[in-house]
Order: sequence, then structure tokens, then C-alpha cells
Amino acid sequence: MNWKTLKIIIALFFLNSITLYLYFSSHSDYLRHHRRHQSPPQNANRSLTERRNLPDHANRVSVSNFNKPWPILPSHLPWSLSPNHITYRSCEAYFGNGFTRRVDLLKSKSGGGGGGGWFRCFHSPTLKSSICEGGRIRMHPEKINMSVGGEELESVIGREEDEELPKFEFGAFDLEVGEKLSNRKKLASEVFLNKLLKRGSVSRHTTRELIDSMQLVSANEFKCSEWIEEPTLLVTRFEYANLFHTVTDWYSAYVSSRVTGLPIRPNVVFVDGHCLTGLDDTWKAMFSGVRYAKKFTGPVCFRHAILSPLGYETALYKGLHESIDCHGASRDDVAQNPNEQITARISEFGEMIRMSFGLPLNPPHHTSNYHNVLFVRRESYLAHPRHRGAVQTRLGNEQQVFDALRRWAASGDFKCKVNVINGVMAHMPMKEQLRAIQEATVIVGAHGAGLTHIVSAVETEIVELLGSKFIRPHYALISQWKGLKYHPIYMKETFAVPSDVVNEISRILTNLGC
Ligand SMILES: *[C@@H]1O[C@H](CO)[C@@H](O)[C@H](O)[C@H]1NC(C)=O
Ligand SMILES: *[C@@H]1O[C@H](CO)[C@@H](O)[C@H](O)[C@H]1NC(C)=O
Repeated sequence: MNWKTLKIIIALFFLNSITLYLYFSSHSDYLRHHRRHQSPPQNANRSLTERRNLPDHANRVSVSNFNKPWPILPSHLPWSLSPNHITYRSCEAYFGNGFTRRVDLLKSKSGGGGGGGWFRCFHSPTLKSSICEGGRIRMHPEKINMSVGGEELESVIGREEDEELPKFEFGAFDLEVGEKLSNRKKLASEVFLNKLLKRGSVSRHTTRELIDSMQLVSANEFKCSEWIEEPTLLVTRFEYANLFHTVTDWYSAYVSSRVTGLPIRPNVVFVDGHCLTGLDDTWKAMFSGVRYAKKFTGPVCFRHAILSPLGYETALYKGLHESIDCHGASRDDVAQNPNEQITARISEFGEMIRMSFGLPLNPPHHTSNYHNVLFVRRESYLAHPRHRGAVQTRLGNEQQVFDALRRWAASGDFKCKVNVINGVMAHMPMKEQLRAIQEATVIVGAHGAGLTHIVSAVETEIVELLGSKFIRPHYALISQWKGLKYHPIYMKETFAVPSDVVNEISRILTNLGC
């Protein structure tokens, strides 16, 4: 390492320390402020909607600083539901708001005797999934058996996944009700759970288990060591270090926020004990804040909590096993032809990710004569505590293909300027990864989770190298649902013929006028 690099690293370190300091000092301000505003008992009989308009909200300036508004997304279409217009297995039912069946499990009783807890679910017959939400919900971290979460990866090497996933004791969550209860009463019956939260392809349905643990408690027992006033998503992540699965979690969290009509971006509480990963920053960027359930001390009460379904229940994952005949289209096309098999939801979601990092929505390659070909590399890095630090080889001659592309680009035998970008994504900050994605005219890579980034691509063409033992539909499908042109190259075993790759990309650029 030379002196210049060292100086840059030291400078970055200081910058980072300052940012962290500013973040934590303002955050503890927020917490102090928050504690002062614990729910005043005289308000105990007000309903949630009334509470939203309470004048004391206006004074909580430091709190609202932490609540991000929704960005304006060009592809956004309203999520408000007109159930009669949403048909079973339509594109909107898969990707947007198909949560047409509302079931109220507990209605808020305002006035008289306290209480005010409420709980309901919205069920999608198409996705066979439910988004549930409730108010005056209390979580007891000590009744959730799992690791703490949020640790440095190096400190938890070898930890079993089972330890990181939550096991709920009965009463890990409870809801405040008005009436006096003589014995412990469950919120949800087995019949309800079987109807709305069916066990599916995953070994454990943690959302169902969480709701199964909920009990009703009377108002005089409902004591909290901390109140969270802002809407909060409760999220359990599976395969949290893998970009594909994490994107399904982000999608689920985004959809849940929209379906429940949140006026601002929610906070997120991870109800899991996973360690830190490079993807945590994106959770922080997309939502108002992120905390780990086990890091709360004592019972914490949520004015409004939303249970985000597992990523496995999103269309992005379901589409791998059932046929979802939808094609990406512009927002205007979808608005004008709502009954066609088209959707703009993945574009809306991609814009949400890019806007969360403050990236411009109109990338330069649409108007210039300068084209980036982004080569998404598959790199070895330590991803999670059970990982050996190496990825499975999907493209045996990756370097050779990359070098061939670089030589071809340098030959300059076309009308525009072509730049081959070395997409060492695992070693780039998320914002830079996204920038590289949206500035690419062509994205090329072997099948691998890194390609899930194409949800954020704009008018980009995708070239996927598929080994004979590894033909999987993930990125062909995302390209289709997003309306990106997709070009598969089928390899013998894991070796690509470099000239095949060069020719394919050359053809794409020629068609673009190069
Ligand atoms: C709460 O209930 C009490 C008695 O039931 C009533 O006197 C009071 O006005 C109520 N407060 C609100 C804000 O509804
Ligand atoms: C918590 O879960 C672990 C397995 O992950 C188990 O060995 C342990 O007995 C559980 N503890 C309690 C108190 O249930």
C-alpha cells in the first residue's frame, strides 16, 4: 500500500468518525426527547387516528427529523385499493396491492376503561400472504429467544442460523385491551392463522409464530419502558447476506408500507439476531431508522406496528415457482391499460432504492454517446457466520472474458465511446454499486445474486452467462417484469467463449447506433 492510499484511508476514517458522532449525538437527543413523551395515561382511551392529530405531535421536532417523507417516484401509481378492480393473479395483485381481504381481529374501542389496542390483516389470495398491522403493541425482548444481532461478523463466526432466528415465548408480544382479563388470552386462533398465514415453502413462518405469541392484556398492565410513536415495520430476514433474498425483503417492506398507507417512511425493527452485513446500510437509507429487537431494554410499545411478510411471499420469489405473466411497462401505460399483463411496480421500487441514496433518476447514457458496459464480478468475501468466504464458481474464465471485453472496447471500432467497468460490487459501497448499475447501458455477468441489482437499472440491456448446471430464471424474470431487454448466453459447463460475449454486446451497441 503506498503513502497516498494510506492518507486517503486515514481521511476516510476521520470522516466516518465524525459522521458516526453526529449520528449518535442526534440520535440520543431523539431518544431523550422520546422518553419525555411517553404515552400520557390520560390519553389511554384515544384511538390511533385521533392520536395522529394530537397537537403534541407538532412539538416533537427532533422525532420528525428522523422520519423521512416518501420521495416522489416517477413510476409511482396509487396503492389505495379498489378491491373490485383487482383481479386474482393480475399483475397488480402480484406486484402491487392485491391485499383485498381485510380481516379485523381486534377493533379499537375508544372511550371508557382504557384499551385502544387494535389488530387487522390484509390478505392477498394471489400471493397467499398477509400484511398485518396493529396499534398499542408491546414487545418483550427477553421473551424472544435468539442472538442479539447487529454484531460484527468476525465476532460470531460459526454461529448457527437457528440461533439467529427468533423463537417466541407466548406473550413475547401483547396488545392492550379495555376489558379486565382474568386469564391469559390469545389474540389469534389456529383457524385464523391457518386461513391468513398458512405455513408455506419456508421451514419456519416467523410472522405466523410472532402473531401466535400475541396475548391480550388489560390497560392497567400495559406498562412500557419506551414508546415508539412512529410507524414501525417488524421484519424477520432469512438469507440476509444474499442480495436476491434481501431485495425480496426490501420489496416486502416497501409493499407493506404502501398497502397500509403509511404517510411517511417507517422505522424498521429487525426481529432476528443476524449480524451486521454490507446490506444494512440500504435498510437505513430506504427507511427512517433501523434497530434490532434484542437491543431494546425492557418492554417497548409501538403506537403502530406493521408485520412485513417474509420475502419468500413476494412475487419476486414466487415467480421462480409459478408462472407470473407480467411485463414491465411505463406508469402511463399501466394507468391507461389496467387490465393488460403489465406492471410498473418494479420500476417504482427501483426508483425508491435509487432515491434513497440520492441518485439522479435520469442517468446519462440515455442522452449521450458514451456507453458503460458493467461487468458484474462474482467475488469471494465472507458473507455470513457459516460462510467459508468463497463463492461457487459460475464462470470459470471470468478474468479471460473480462480482458477480452476490455481489449474490444479499447479497439474503439465503433461510433461511440465504450467503457468496460469492473463491477467488483462486493467491495463497493452500496451507493457506488447503484450508480454503476444505473449508468450502465449493458450489464453482463454470470448468474449470481449480484445481478439482482437490475431492479434499479434504467433502460439497460442484460447479458447473463448461464452454466449448463445452473440455468435458473431469476434475472430473466426480473428483466421481463421490469421491461429490460434480456440476452442469455448458455455456456458449456462454466466456460464462456469470450468472442461470444463480445459479439453479443457488440450487437446490442450496434442496435443502439454505435
Ligand atoms: C377518556 O375516558 C374518560 C372516562 O371514560 C373520559 O372522561 C374522557 O373524556 C376520555 N378522554 C378522551 C380523550 O376521550
Ligand atoms: C433458546 O434456543 C436455543 C436454540 O437456539 C436452545 O438451545 C435454548 O434452550 C433456548 N432457550 C430457552 C430459554 O428456551
